[in-house]
Amino acid sequence: MDIAVRQFEHKPERCAYALSQVEALLSAESDLIAGLANASAVLKLLLPDLNWVGFYLLRDGGLVLGPFQGKPAVSHIALGAGVCGTAAESGEAQLVPDVHQRCNHIACDLASASELVLPVRVDGALYALLDMDSPVTNHFDEEDLAGLQPVADAVGRWISQIGV
Ligand code: SME
Repeated sequence: MDIAVRQFEHKPERCAYALSQVEALLSAESDLIAGLANASAVLKLLLPDLNWVGFYLLRDGGLVLGPFQGKPAVSHIALGAGVCGTAAESGEAQLVPDVHQRCNHIACDLASASELVLPVRVDGALYALLDMDSPVTNHFDEEDLAGLQPVADAVGRWISQIGV
């Protein structure tokens, strides 16, 4: 599948382009695994300086690793554990400028230096997390949070539509 990789000077435009590409791809997909796998691939392709991007799914009261791009990662995370478990327990996005300063960070890839975790809600209920790691400290900021939560929201709307 050919996705044009465009250069953007500003994050909001880049995030908007990534959103448009994820939405276009998901609009033609009806399988959860296939859609999440390609969504993570599109984000890895279009967002610079990511060493890991993917999904954790809320299953049986914990988090289970879903489709992703990057090094093998911890496959089960308890609610409240690590950055992802904190996001799942609170339902709130987690913006971690420096993972080495975050005492409960779970290191999957030693290269990871900063992390952004966004809730994926389906019909108002937390269904999954979109997790992004960067090897660059302070890589993620409020513009990423504002620009990429709409991607997680689009994934949530799509999951609702396909009826998982
Ligand atoms: N760092 C995460 C674990 C998942 S990896 O980043 C892929 C955490 O602390 O929950």
